[in-house]
Amino acid sequence: MTSQRFRCPRCGERVQEKSRCTLECEGCTYLFPILGGVPVLLPDALEWVGAYRESILACLVSDGQIMDDEVQLIQGISDLTPIDEALRFAKDWDSRELGKANPSVEFQSNSRQLQRIEDHERESGLYRTVEALTADLAGDVLEIGAGIGRLARSLVAVTRTICVLDNNLRPLVEGYDGLPGVQRVVGDAGALPFVDEAYNAVIALNVVDLLESPEAFFAEAARVLGAEGIVVVSTPDPTLGIPDGDRGRMARCISDYGFEVMTVEDDLLWTRRPQPHELQVFTTQVVVARRG
Ligand SMILES: C[S@@+](CC[C@H](N)C(=O)[O-])C[C@H]1O[C@@H](n2cnc3c(N)ncnc32)[C@H](O)[C@@H]1O
Ligand SMILES: [Zn+2]
Repeated sequence: MTSQRFRCPRCGERVQEKSRCTLECEGCTYLFPILGGVPVLLPDALEWVGAYRESILACLVSDGQIMDDEVQLIQGISDLTPIDEALRFAKDWDSRELGKANPSVEFQSNSRQLQRIEDHERESGLYRTVEALTADLAGDVLEIGAGIGRLARSLVAVTRTICVLDNNLRPLVEGYDGLPGVQRVVGDAGALPFVDEAYNAVIALNVVDLLESPEAFFAEAARVLGAEGIVVVSTPDPTLGIPDGDRGRMARCISDYGFEVMTVEDDLLWTRRPQPHELQVFTTQVVVARRG
């Protein structure tokens, strides 16, 4: 559970296991909960538990993972951190991505037009491209915004260790059945709870466009990567939100953080199927860069 790589996202000191469901910072003594086996290493972990209390309980109960000490911990934290409005975890994936067949979706989604696009994605789209680009990542890999683990499922075969981080507990609890070796962490891409130079590769697919500060993430990626470490970032919006159509901006921004850009591939298909008859189609860019 406690990884030697963890550090406090508030003060940067190491964290130690305090009880079965808490970690304590050796510097500022902040307590971080462990819920359903997943450490919550957010800078404001206690407020987060208070705000998501109902969703956390629902998600752990539905997974059959909840224990009495966790219920008491969640209740205790919520009493200390009263909130105005309860927040819910977004469900940002479909059953196809989860790798579980959903018969009703399979039955209704036999449109040849949509399948043609999905086939094209499978043959030469984002995931196929990233799998090829990461096929020889033999070391310790951190995936940011990993969601239900669509990529992690292929990475486990090639990496020494893999840690997946997301700021949503629900995909981390629902998505990793049958992947026991994967370390899961609730955390924020802009305040990574890991010691310096902990990883050989950091991967973030389709996340940077959701961040308030992609720059904070690139700085954190550079910090947690060892020399020669690799960053792999994909996004449908490499303009980083500036509406001038400059698709070179993300690669330049990554190089500003001490990375040498090695590969840029653009126009890669990424699809999502929120409803049987609805296919969302994105074109994405992937950048691979090496830390100097
Ligand atoms: C569009 S999904 C992509 C999931 C997966 N990487 C993929 O390509 O299928 C974005 C993911 O990033 C996560 N995320 C969003 N903001 C985040 C943040 N600040 N820190 C960590 N994860 C974040 C979301 O919870 C979600 O799982
Ligand atoms: Zn601390």
